Amino acid sequence: MPQPAHALPALLDTDAQPFARTGFLPARAPVLHLPGSFQALLDLIPELAGAYGGGGVRPLIREAAQAWPADLTRASRDLSGDQRDALLSAAAVLMHLYRWDAVPVHPDRFHEVPDFPPALNRLFRTLSAARGLPPCGNLYTLKYLNWRSPDVTPGEPYDAGMLRAGNVQMARVFQAGLAGEQLDLWIQTFVLAEARGQAVLHAGLAALRAAHEQDRPALEAALLALRDAVRAVAREVNVFTRFHVIRTDLWRVYTQPTFGWGLTERGPVLEGASGLQLGATQFADLALGVPLHGPLGRALRHSRAYLPPEQRAFLRAWEPHRYAVRRAVLAWGDTRARDLFDACVQDLARWRVSHRERGSAYLRGDGQEHVMASTGTQFAAGTPHDHAFRQLMDSRIEDTRAQRTKPEPP
Ligand code: HEM
Repeated sequence: MPQPAHALPALLDTDAQPFARTGFLPARAPVLHLPGSFQALLDLIPELAGAYGGGGVRPLIREAAQAWPADLTRASRDLSGDQRDALLSAAAVLMHLYRWDAVPVHPDRFHEVPDFPPALNRLFRTLSAARGLPPCGNLYTLKYLNWRSPDVTPGEPYDAGMLRAGNVQMARVFQAGLAGEQLDLWIQTFVLAEARGQAVLHAGLAALRAAHEQDRPALEAALLALRDAVRAVAREVNVFTRFHVIRTDLWRVYTQPTFGWGLTERGPVLEGASGLQLGATQFADLALGVPLHGPLGRALRHSRAYLPPEQRAFLRAWEPHRYAVRRAVLAWGDTRARDLFDACVQDLARWRVSHRERGSAYLRGDGQEHVMASTGTQFAAGTPHDHAFRQLMDSRIEDTRAQRTKPEPP
């Protein structure tokens, strides 16, 4: 039986949430400048681009870090929250560059715990801990805090709907030339997919509310909006992940290397690719009740550890209600509600099918032997894993389709 409306926790009242307008993107547009000596860290990043695509960035980062004031980490406490986020993002990018040193990534880098410059290491770990994030290169710090748009004001609130292809750029590009352009497109893909995720969040929660209130017209309207929102996420990703836009022959060697990493001194910190941290699909799975079992389901749950605490709390609050919409549709929804629910499931499964097909094209790359600087830690570095990837995705696609209320038409 559906529960009464008051059973929904206050945390699920999106209108009151900081992410009501922006989904899991930062609630205010990323800050692009920092006061005093902090700006030097931001300025350093583009200066490293040439060396990152050449002889390596490590000596340059070590030298630069020596010139930073001794009390840099302590002084960061006086920055505003948005400024600290920008500094965390810059520190994460510098750690990222130091971690890999150069592209193409040398095979030795995969199993190494690098000797980071102490000033950078201290700053990064202190800021990560203060933000409630593990010391990782994650989606939030490397991508979601690293963009700009002429249509938003840094440090000010904005609406995710304002972000669209053509008006989002990477804020601090760390590769040069064509590789830099490709990196910019890659980061845009995630920022724009997450911007569309805001509509998935809204529609999913509207469906949940309608289910609790047993409001059939509201449930149908929410499911219609959810279907459109899931389609919009897929469209956004598919516009970019085409061989001549984000280039399949370059991605594995220059563009991907290698987003998502953990500091491994206490065992691998990170499970899976940073795509797992995408709010848009986390929301869609919750709204439609796609279970989190199997290897990918577990990795999806685990990957929430890399989200900021307020986002984790929000997903946690939604979790006990993940089957409420489907149950409502089955218990008192009419044919239209069932059709709409199944259309949502079908479109989420379609996104997963296109991600599988495009993902494997990118994993195959140009077909030449390369160090596998690929995404995710579920696969051994250096091992071609197109096949393993497809199997992993197949299981998630099956789990998604299984949520339909009626069998799939032949
Ligand atoms: C185009 C090249 C891409 C490749 C090769 C790729 C590869 C992968 C891999 C290997 C996984 C499984 C993670 C693991 O266990 O290691 C994964 C999962 C995932 N990726 Fe990607 N990915 C690509 C693009 C994207 C993009 C552009 C997005 C979204 C903006 C994305 C979103 C996701 C999501 C949401 C998952 C979790 C699985 C699911 O919900 O179905 N991926 N990807």
